[in-house]
Amino acid sequence: MEKVKVALIGAGAMANSVHYPSLAEMADVQMVALCDLVPEKREETALRFGIPRTYSDYREMVQKENPDAVYVLMPPYHLFDAAVYCLQQGKHVFVEKPPAVTTFQTLELANWAEAKACVTQIGFNRRYIPLLVKVREMQREAGDLNLAVSTFYKAQPDALYYNGAIDVLHCDAIHAVDALRWMGGDVVAVGSHVSGSGETPRLNRWLAVMEFEDGGSGVLLTNWDSGTRVHTFEMHAPGFAAFVNPDADGQAVVHRPGKDPLTITSVEAAGSDQWHKVYGFFGESRNFIDCIKAGVDSDCSFADAARSMALADDILAGMI
Ligand SMILES: NC(=O)c1ccc[n+]([C@@H]2O[C@H](COP(=O)([O-])OP(=O)(O)OC[C@H]3O[C@@H](n4cnc5c(N)ncnc54)[C@H](O)[C@@H]3O)[C@@H](O)[C@H]2O)c1
Repeated sequence: MEKVKVALIGAGAMANSVHYPSLAEMADVQMVALCDLVPEKREETALRFGIPRTYSDYREMVQKENPDAVYVLMPPYHLFDAAVYCLQQGKHVFVEKPPAVTTFQTLELANWAEAKACVTQIGFNRRYIPLLVKVREMQREAGDLNLAVSTFYKAQPDALYYNGAIDVLHCDAIHAVDALRWMGGDVVAVGSHVSGSGETPRLNRWLAVMEFEDGGSGVLLTNWDSGTRVHTFEMHAPGFAAFVNPDADGQAVVHRPGKDPLTITSVEAAGSDQWHKVYGFFGESRNFIDCIKAGVDSDCSFADAARSMALADDILAGMI
């Protein structure tokens, strides 16, 4: 396969800001067609990225274009029908996070992918942030992880995603949940404190402590009733501590006994100051395309993402 033929569903914010810029830079990718329900959005986006054909019906696009892969970039409550259709047609599929509205839907998408031998990639972009990747490599060289911490704070106590189609933990704080599994591995036990605060009927704090199957500990600190957006990570091993803020102007500070603290910036690790490179969006698409070309499934597939969705379920179920 010289070039991977990719068809695109969705001409929205994430498509235009990070995913299509990433694909447009890849010499081994051909963006063959774009579908969106809104004519102006699909025509403007097609023009911006040099995509030759546009459609309003994704089924027609998939039938006529016969692509190798489809990007399905739309709100989670619309996602399932389009993703399942593409998998049923034997197309490799990329979706943003969350992979679905529920763990059940995510597992059914994983079942379709397996039945049709499709490569799938979920946009858990934190796993592909060059700074986090580099620090995790350093931690693994230093020793076994004994503690991972994942924080995500926002100042949106009354946040309601897609009019309530999906809860905040599974839709957005899921990034912090998934990052814990990426740092520490699968989880065998979890306890949590989940609460709401302020003048809202909604939950806005999800705090959890968990045990990884290799014996390390994980801590989740997510609070949408905070004062600002902060999203940081810690990795600890014997003689190793890393504190990572992977934002565009962020950095990691790595501490090892007997050595000066080492500071690595997000931009240094990415070799670029472009947001789609710094924050892992380029990396997740690169991984998807490489997996398609190699004929292997991604380690961030529907099947794997279902385990992060299930962990979010367990965090809600494990409330003290
Ligand atoms: N990884 C991250 O950091 C991150 C950040 C923000 C959003 N997201 C996720 O990205 C996803 C997309 O978000 P967005 O902000 O780009 O959405 P958006 O609303 O800007 O774009 C979605 C597009 O899909 C189109 N669409 C909807 N139904 C369609 C259909 N049946 N056929 C064709 N087109 C259709 C809409 O017209 C719209 O243009 C969401 O799941 C969101 O959770 C991820």
